[in-house]
Amino acid sequence: MKLNWNSLLNRKISALLPLILATSLTVSATPARAEQPAAPAGQIDVPQLFATTCGWCHSDGGRAAGKGPQLMDTKRDDDFIRNRIKNGKSGAMPAFGATFDDAQIDEIIKYIRALKPDQG
Ligand code: HEC
Repeated sequence: MKLNWNSLLNRKISALLPLILATSLTVSATPARAEQPAAPAGQIDVPQLFATTCGWCHSDGGRAAGKGPQLMDTKRDDDFIRNRIKNGKSGAMPAFGATFDDAQIDEIIKYIRALKPDQG
């Protein structure tokens, strides 16, 4: 028997690879659901992020306290906010340093600075 299963398997995987890549590209290229007007942010939809990820603890898009403090009108400086988002706080807030790059955290800081009380 000269059958080499390893190389057979390898060939199968390399045949599948473009397919896998194409699938993941398609998924990531799908635009976020546009229930709210698109955020000015180029990279991430921060309001959407607050609706899904941060809103658990920072209520009403960050306008109100939840399990975490209100973010609107924060007196913290950018470095503090960046550090908190990156590293979280043990027992209080998860770290998002592996989730967002610096440019994305910049967008989040911009969003927090621009927060206004809900109209109506
Ligand atoms: C599991 C709850 C939880 C989640 C989810 C969460 N946070 Fe927090 N966050 C907290 C708590 C609690 C604090 C206060 C920590 C402390 O004691 O300093 C905090 C503090 C902060 C602060 C500093 C505010 C201040 O005045 O001290 C910022 C900014 C912040 N969070 C942003 C975010 C962002 C952005 C997200 C989503 C990507 C997020 N948080 C997700 C719980 C959470």
